[in-house]
Amino acid sequence: MRWLDAKVPWPYPADGAASFVAACVAEMARGEKSHWAIVPRKGPADLIGVVSLWPDDGVTHDQRGFWLDPAWQRQGLMTEAANRVTDYAFRQLGWPCLWLSNAQDNQASRRIKEKQGARLVDMMIGRYVGGETSRMVWLLEREDWVERRAA
Ligand SMILES: CC(C)(COP(=O)(O)OP(=O)(O)OC[C@H]1O[C@@H](n2cnc3c(N)ncnc32)[C@H](O)[C@@H]1OP(=O)(O)O)[C@@H](O)C(=O)NCCC(=O)NCCS
Repeated sequence: MRWLDAKVPWPYPADGAASFVAACVAEMARGEKSHWAIVPRKGPADLIGVVSLWPDDGVTHDQRGFWLDPAWQRQGLMTEAANRVTDYAFRQLGWPCLWLSNAQDNQASRRIKEKQGARLVDMMIGRYVGGETSRMVWLLEREDWVERRAA
């Protein structure tokens, strides 16, 4: 939780999950963002995580978000999900690059960017649920991604 964006309510309210899903559905209906539910491959179809993608607004330098139920972490699931979503951004949508960001101490999120071949381009202060801390800003370019995937 501490490394999620400060706009996430915490302590999490009783209607937090319902409000979050309603907001996701509305954003998708308006064509603003894409959200994918992550569910266990072998079932049951319980929501164990989300990965989201949105266009560059030219300001925030952040176009992808993700979280996973702690019980399912460290099994490579978000590496797999982030790769699928990144393929979608570059191959289906044809975006030239992706801006990505994370709190500096968020090792798992940082590692996913490193493994994808993103370049660290800036450091700034970010506002997270756990407070203000260093925020790493990364750029992943389509050409680099396609080359890397082909290799
Ligand atoms: C970030 C998050 C989605 C990663 O999901 P995950 O499925 O556990 O990640 P993966 O298993 O694909 O691991 C990715 C890499 O991070 C490493 N890693 C995972 N958890 C880690 C941890 N707690 N500490 C250090 N490294 C970690 C893995 O070893 C792997 O690196 P490797 O391939 O070199 O071994 C998950 O930790 C999470 O939900 N965190 C809380 C929410 C959050 O921080 N969201 C992102 C905000 S920017």
